[in-house]
Amino acid sequence: MSFITRRRAIEPPVHAEGQHRLKPSLGWPHLMALGVGAIIGTGIYTLTGVAAGLAGPAVILSFAVAGAVCACAALCYAEMASLMPQAGSAYTYSYVGLGEMVAWIIGWSLILEYTLVCSAVSVGWAGYAAGLIKSAHWAIPPALLAGPEAGGLVNLPAVFIALVVTGVLLIGTRESATVNFILVCVKLVALAGFVALTLPHFDASHFHPFAPFGYGAEQIGDKKFGMMGAAAIIFFAFYGFDAISTAAEEAKNPKRDLTIGIVGSMIMCTLIYMVVAACALGASPYDVFSKSPEPLAFVLRELGQPAAASVIAGAAVVALPTVIMVFMFGQSRVFFAMARDGLLPRGLAGVDSRGVPVAVTVLTGLISAVIAGVMPLSEIASLANAGTLAAFIATIAAVMVLRRQAPELARTFKTPLIWVIGPAGIAGCLYLFSSLAAKTITFFFAWNLIGVLVYLAYGRAKSRLA
Ligand code: ALA
Repeated sequence: MSFITRRRAIEPPVHAEGQHRLKPSLGWPHLMALGVGAIIGTGIYTLTGVAAGLAGPAVILSFAVAGAVCACAALCYAEMASLMPQAGSAYTYSYVGLGEMVAWIIGWSLILEYTLVCSAVSVGWAGYAAGLIKSAHWAIPPALLAGPEAGGLVNLPAVFIALVVTGVLLIGTRESATVNFILVCVKLVALAGFVALTLPHFDASHFHPFAPFGYGAEQIGDKKFGMMGAAAIIFFAFYGFDAISTAAEEAKNPKRDLTIGIVGSMIMCTLIYMVVAACALGASPYDVFSKSPEPLAFVLRELGQPAAASVIAGAAVVALPTVIMVFMFGQSRVFFAMARDGLLPRGLAGVDSRGVPVAVTVLTGLISAVIAGVMPLSEIASLANAGTLAAFIATIAAVMVLRRQAPELARTFKTPLIWVIGPAGIAGCLYLFSSLAAKTITFFFAWNLIGVLVYLAYGRAKSRLA
């Protein structure tokens, strides 16, 4: 078999008999909390502003489009996870369904995605932290509170939080279900408070014109404007649900609980996002709050509610670091899976005596911190989205290929109407991808070209399948 098409076999599902079976202890409420915990972050707290600047009030529809595309992909993730609950996410799924070359490209894209998500959430966190620092009149020079694009020198709070989370992971801290649950509540209560305080100031005239930049994606300068251009950025707000699919093995009733957990958290997040965005738009004209690095707090301050603004900023500061944590973990799992397959040096994925993947964590933390310090949020998020869209397309394709080629495999969860959901999901991802800024698309292909060269020089010969 050629190195391009060689595929990994599906190893016996871990949920067969054996001592490695994890205890099926999670019901759909747990799974939904897990999903919402990983999903709600910088997307709604900060990118809402960036996206509103690109689409105007039509950003509400951008949320709906991005949510629908993500829901298709999420169902396919659940199916793959129930088929092979193993580390590596889309990389592992592509290896089984689509062959080594595609798997490598997806793994390489995921490395880009996870690192950039950590940077993007750090920048989002920093926007709110800087707002609190300013309100507290701490004497930190403004040049150290924003990156060069925003008129500063370096975004020090973003560097700080990326390094703090790295440190916490190095100590060997794991996500705890209880802490996650509390932080999910903090994030939701803060958003509910935002809605309650802005609703009385709702001004429908802010919704005219509804789509000042149209419904497509039009390149103006180095950005793509319009409803789809904003959808391609706001897509960022929805991912993180792999966290649920990786827990497939622990679901009490996978078929029911995974569907409710995944589809439920998608629907819930989409509705929350649309309501929060509508309230922000109703309370403040989009071209005013879209420029703020802490849009939700900004809107409240504009309404004469400085205390509430500090509370929402506090909620973001407390809760967003867990999103960085989830993605740093994700990074180590992808590295681990790729090194186990021989495509990356094993040393990189090694764990210490406490099971902490030190090398990957330090590397991811440092690179995320540097990027967060100097790059603007919209560019980081777009590039993370490009990698994620590639992973979604591969996962959906892998599900369809395996339905045809291995229909006999036991699937505890099957995507309903796969021949409708699958092609619709792929078409949606491709459309979102094409709506990304030209610069982002170029960088993404350049990154993967380097990836292919690395593969030809290393992985092709070192692969476990070689
Ligand atoms: N969906 C996650 C966020 O918005 C990545 O922060």
